[in-house]
This record gives sequence, structure tokens and C-alpha cells, in this order.
Amino acid sequence: MCGIVGYAGRRQAAPILLEGLKKLEYRGYDSAGVAVLDNGTLHVMKRAGSVEGLAPAKSFAGNVGIGHTRWATHGAPTEENAHPHIFGRIALVHNGIIENMKQLKEECLERGETFISETDSEVIAHLLDFCYEGDILAALKKTAARLSGSLALAVISLEEPQRIALARRASPLVVGRAEDGVYLASDIPAIAAKGMKVYALGENEFALLDGKEAHFYAEDGREIEKKPLDYAVEEDVPEKKGFRHFMRKEMSEIPLSIANTQQILRSYPKISALREVLCHAEYIHIVACGTAYHSGLCAKVAFETRARIPVEVAVASEYRYRDPVIQRNTLVIAVSQSGETADTLAAAELAKRSGATLLAVTNVRYSSLARLSDLVLFTAAGREIAVAATKSFNAQLTLLFALAEELAMAKGRGGCGAELFSLPELAQRALASSEEVRAWTPHFLSAKSVFFLGRGADYCVALEGSLKLKEISYLPSEGYPAGELKHGTLALIEKGTPVVAILTSSRLAEKTMNAVHETYARGAKVFLVTSLPEYRKREEILSSVLIPDIGEIYSPVLSVIPLQALAYYVSVARGNDPDKPRNLAKSVTVE
Ligand code: F6R
Repeated sequence: MCGIVGYAGRRQAAPILLEGLKKLEYRGYDSAGVAVLDNGTLHVMKRAGSVEGLAPAKSFAGNVGIGHTRWATHGAPTEENAHPHIFGRIALVHNGIIENMKQLKEECLERGETFISETDSEVIAHLLDFCYEGDILAALKKTAARLSGSLALAVISLEEPQRIALARRASPLVVGRAEDGVYLASDIPAIAAKGMKVYALGENEFALLDGKEAHFYAEDGREIEKKPLDYAVEEDVPEKKGFRHFMRKEMSEIPLSIANTQQILRSYPKISALREVLCHAEYIHIVACGTAYHSGLCAKVAFETRARIPVEVAVASEYRYRDPVIQRNTLVIAVSQSGETADTLAAAELAKRSGATLLAVTNVRYSSLARLSDLVLFTAAGREIAVAATKSFNAQLTLLFALAEELAMAKGRGGCGAELFSLPELAQRALASSEEVRAWTPHFLSAKSVFFLGRGADYCVALEGSLKLKEISYLPSEGYPAGELKHGTLALIEKGTPVVAILTSSRLAEKTMNAVHETYARGAKVFLVTSLPEYRKREEILSSVLIPDIGEIYSPVLSVIPLQALAYYVSVARGNDPDKPRNLAKSVTVE
């Protein structure tokens, strides 16, 4: 899941490429590069590390260029492995994974060609040069037919100084037509400007940009007309606004993200279609990855408790290869902040092919998932820059919990009495008390492992707390069902092991405390996130944070906040950059 960008037009290409790449860094930041065509000369710069390292390339002359920011799949994050890859007359940038790279590379080696990188993408440049007979689009079509896997490709030839050819398969790619030229990128915000018409390439489509125009082609070679996407130019480029990191700033926006999501739901234009779907739903499958998967787990508790409807929550990368049983009247809900996660998209496509109604829950209006789905509910979290999801998770929960209430109503089960409308204010209070977890940090800094324990909805939140801590602090950690600990994992508890218990259900509190006591008796340091003040004084608890009480099933939207804060403070105290954790990227558009 790298980011690609390109430009052909009247302006100097290099500054446009650098600006676009900066905006795409959320897709990968381990190396970057640009190539600019200047009347048959190719200026190239590649650097290991972030896009900032490319600053000297800003002075490259030339009106046509391509750029790339990389998240390493094949080969280490080095300068050699950075894109653009160049061979013969061809330069290219690629996002995706070529699955038959080994066999194609052998072919090239037999022809006596040599490779300078370990990437799968370099082989595409060799194939393209081999197929090239003066027409870059024709060469790209021939080459693409030989590639298995996923690709968003932008390709230039030294012999066609005004052109960029594009291909897309299972990796997003958009083209922008403006008065001064034609732009391309993995994602709209990287290029969008007022007055620009933006088009999304469809599956297996090609495009040719010639500096003035963009021509689009179907897989069979027919030229096709495209309708521009309906998108809004982001007026505000997200800034840290006085915060040290985006993650902390985005956490401060949780109450707003909840309030805005509630507002979107109140004015949802397709509410009657949604109610109709909910009325007929007999089974629900929720497919998602990572944090979004955890919001699906929290939603399952709410849907089943409130509407008594069976819910399966599946990790999308498993679901897509599992031949799932999709019965009549199954509603499949795909949850994805970005709406571009490759596995979630594949699972959603499978569900649709199998006849299920597909409902998307996403934060990005023009995303591939939104375009694919029968119904779309938007979370209004606003742009999230930090790799670790925070406010988007709270927004997903807000939306899914509201859906649980709609579903309960559709099934004739009445209101739950929980004050969901006051969530923004309660989240503000939870945020304020979360500052107390900062004092917990020293106990975590060099922990061998950390455990997050809970039951029911608290267990779902334990999983998210653990994921957050892992991804930005790099500490080994596990979210565990409190009652399951004694069946093996208790063996890992040692003197000083940090254990974080989540306790928001008076029904289950004593049961969770049994497990907490078992860890305490073995020397664990126990920290508590709770809405039940009476548990704060228990002898097992070293320190606790009190969050507002919103009832057991809807508590995750609040109880996760101190856990997000804990991950943040531990990450910073360990000297990490919580916004850009190692090995990760914000948008995972490869399998
Ligand atoms: C973790 C995180 C990831 C994403 C996952 C799915 O903090 O952000 O686990 O939740 O990659 O991404 P989306 O929601 O864009 O499909």
C-alpha cells in the first residue's frame, strides 16, 4: 500500500509531485522517489525514509512526472528498492503486489537482463520495455495481461515525452482533469483542487494522460466515458493545532467526531431504505480488519443484545477465502475507516456476489467501498492522519450502536433507555479523566508483556486497547477474555506484569475481578478502567480511571478512550513517533 502520484501539463511537475506525495505519506513512509521527464531526459531522485528527503528534487525541470511513497512489501526499505523503477526506456511507479514475479523475473534473467532492486515492481519495468513498440498504452495493456496480483501503475516512456499511461487492478487510482493539466494519484486529497474534475479508474481499466486530456479504456480496449466523482475539496489541510502529535489531536476530536456522526445519521437521506433492509435482515455478517474489526465485535454485542439477531464478525482476510455461508436475508456490513482496505473490499465483493445486501460503514465518501455498497453510512470523524485509529473508532461505534437501536426498533424491541444523545459530552468527560493514565506510563515502559482483560463488551475493548499499545509502543500485549486466562495464559503473569482490567458491567464485574485477583496474587500490577466507582478502592488495584456510565453494551465508545491515551503516552515515553509507527501504514490497499 504505497502512494503514487503523477502530473502531465503546463506547470513544472516536480513541486506538484512532492506536494502530492506529502499528502500520501499515510500510505507508507519508508522510502520515496520521483522521476520527471524533461524533453527526453529523465531526472530521478530516490531516498530511503520520508518524502522530506526528496526536497532537492523540487528544482527538477520538466512538465511530466511520476512519484511514489513506499510501504515495503518485497525488499527492504532502501534507496535501491524505492520507486520509480527504471529499465530501458521505461520508468514506473507501482502500488500493489505482483504474485507471479518469480516466474516473470526468470524470463527476464534468461534474456540477460539485470535487476538492481529486490522488488516485484522492477520486473514490470522490464516487461514493459520488452513489449514497447513506441506506444506506451499498448505496451502497458500487453504487460498487464501477464501480471497476476494487484496493481495501480503509472508509466512513462522516454520516447513519449507528454504521456503517462495508467492501469488499475485491485488498487485505487484516480485521475484529475484541471485547466493546467492532468493529475493522477492513489487518493483524491493528494491532488484535488477547486474546479478539478476527478475520475476513479474502475477494475481492470486503463487510462492515457497526454498533458491536456485523460482518455479511459475498458479491459477490452474500448474507450469509455467516465462521470466525474462527486467530492468536496478539503479546505483545511489537517494540522497539529498545537498538539505534539496528530494522534493526540485526533483524540481531542473524539467528542466532535461522535457529535458529527450522530448528526449525519439524523439527516440520513435513505433512512426508509435502511429501515426496510433492517426489517428483513435475519442474519448479519460484519467484515473488517484491525480496529474496524474490533468495532464490529462491539457491534455484535449490541445487535444481539438489543435486536436478538445472530451476528457473525469476521476478519475480512479470512472471510474472503472461507466460502462463508451467506443465507437469504443476510445483511453484510463492511466497516472500514478508509474504505480502501483490500481485504475488506474483497470480502464485501464476495458478499455482494453471493446475494447479500451490502451496507458500508466508512469515513471516506468517495471510497471504493462506498461505491461498491448498496447502502452507505458515513462516519463523520474527519480526516485521520495518525496511523493508529482513534476518533474514527469512536465514530464507528457511535454509528453501529445507533444502528443497533434502529435494528431493535425494526424488530419491535423498543428503546434501550441509554442516553446515546449525550455521548459527545460523556466522551469529553472520559477524555479529561484519561489524562490520569499518564501516571501509569513508567510501569509499562519496559514490560515484557501487557494484558488487557474484560468480559463481554469490555473484552472487545480489551482487544482494541491491546492493538493500540502494540502498534505504537511495540510492546508485546494481549487482549484476553478475563474468564479464559486460567486456561493457559495465566502462566505468563510474573511479578510486575502490567494488567489493565476494563470493568463497565455490574453484571460481570465480580467475575472479571476473580481473574484480576488471580493475576494480582501472582504479582501483576493491576490498572483499572471502570464506570463502577466502587471497584476503584479494591486492594488489587494499583491505579484506576473512572469513566462515565453509559450502560454495559454501549460502554466501549467511552472505555476505549483511556486505553488510546495509555498507548499514546507509553509510545511517546518510549521515544517512538505515535503518528508513524514502524512497519505500518494508514491505508492497507494490498492483501
Ligand atoms: C489500527 C488501525 C488498523 C485499521 C485497519 C483497517 O489502529 O488503524 O488496524 O483499523 O487497517 O483499516 P480501515 O478501517 O481503513 O479498513
